[in-house]
Amino acid sequence: MTSTRVLTGITTSGTPHLGNYVGAIRPALAASRNPGVESFYFLADYHALVKVTEPARVQRSTLEIAAAWLACGLDPQQVWFYRQSDIPEIPELTWLLTCIAGKGLLNRAHAYKAAVDRNRGEGEDDDAGINAGLFMYPVLMAADILLFNANKVPVGRDQVQHIEMARDFAQRFNHLYGEPAGKEHFVLPEAVIEEQVATLPGLDGRKMSKSYDNTIPLFAPREQLKKLIFSIVTDSRTPGEPKDTEGSALFQLYQAFASAQETSAMRQAFAEGIGWGDAKQKLFERIDAEVAPLRERYEALIAHPETIEQQLRDGAKRLRERYATARLQALREAVGLRDLGARVQAATATKASSAPLAVFKQYREADGKFYFKLVEGERVLLQSIGFDSPKDAGARVGVLKRGAFDEADADVMIGDGVTPEDVHAALAALLAAEAAKA
Ligand code: TRP
Repeated sequence: MTSTRVLTGITTSGTPHLGNYVGAIRPALAASRNPGVESFYFLADYHALVKVTEPARVQRSTLEIAAAWLACGLDPQQVWFYRQSDIPEIPELTWLLTCIAGKGLLNRAHAYKAAVDRNRGEGEDDDAGINAGLFMYPVLMAADILLFNANKVPVGRDQVQHIEMARDFAQRFNHLYGEPAGKEHFVLPEAVIEEQVATLPGLDGRKMSKSYDNTIPLFAPREQLKKLIFSIVTDSRTPGEPKDTEGSALFQLYQAFASAQETSAMRQAFAEGIGWGDAKQKLFERIDAEVAPLRERYEALIAHPETIEQQLRDGAKRLRERYATARLQALREAVGLRDLGARVQAATATKASSAPLAVFKQYREADGKFYFKLVEGERVLLQSIGFDSPKDAGARVGVLKRGAFDEADADVMIGDGVTPEDVHAALAALLAAEAAKA
């Protein structure tokens, strides 16, 4: 039976908050109950090390997030539930992917670029204070996903670029090491964004996030939950004045927990000028009604960390036996990390050698500008804008040749009937051909 594999991880760098619950845990558990779905939920503790250098915090967060998943109803016998650092195949695959990942592509990762931009803004060296873990973060994440050939990856908007990168690495690997019979090593994963819930607002109205320090802990004790909810920022309208639901953090939070009916009643109450205090009280009661039974289970679970430890180890052990170990073995074979006694296989003809390679064509138009296009046979895959000098056009081609293509780039347009995947595939094939020559 073929099933869809759904995989997601939570970085173990903080305390689980309502945003994690609404954006990740709750939808993931709901999805795992669909027939035909094989779910993989894990604690991304290697990812935590990129940002956190307090060992006790990593440990505590790992425990809290594991307990949160379990308290919310995760059944480790029904879904794969594990800790990233218990699967040594993940860092091993990270290295295999590192060796085919385009550095140029990683340079453009949002998180890394934002850190560089901050440095520039402060007049610092580009890479001041940036560790290589931040730079490599997308490769580790790709290994998480590709090791298990996940089809769907539920994530927030900010993670979509990482999934695209995972696709890019998978494609390159498939091109470089794919078997002539056409059997692909990696499935290309897709991001799934929960449009409605991905942006749960925090106390100050910005996205609820550890980095903004505006979170509401999922399992805050009742009194603390109430205090936090009453601290949500609102405007200065007095009771009796009609209030906007649009842009109201309070309303959005309510909506994330309420039924459609309750939501429309609240919309009505806003229009009729419900006081902020009353609205907050209603929000508190609504959230507490959903969270209270989970909180009770959470407290019971967290009192026995050794049981959780055992469950995680057991999950990882079974998962390795079932998939990871054999999978990595096949990938090691594919790249040439092989038994020396085995007959040496002739350099495998990659698929790239049978398909016609795309070529870059540079030319000058009557407007005096310098253009290029990427063509595959008759098909135009990419068309550039006009550049002022041949050097600029050439430099741009150079970047693309290294595989750094982003469909959002304004200076190259994708041809008619061509998808970004086609372009990535053609560039990967070019790179593979280059690598074979080298
Ligand atoms: N980077 C993700 C986040 O911060 C966590 C994560 C790590 C992840 N590996 C993953 C999510 C693999 C999905 C799939 O939210």
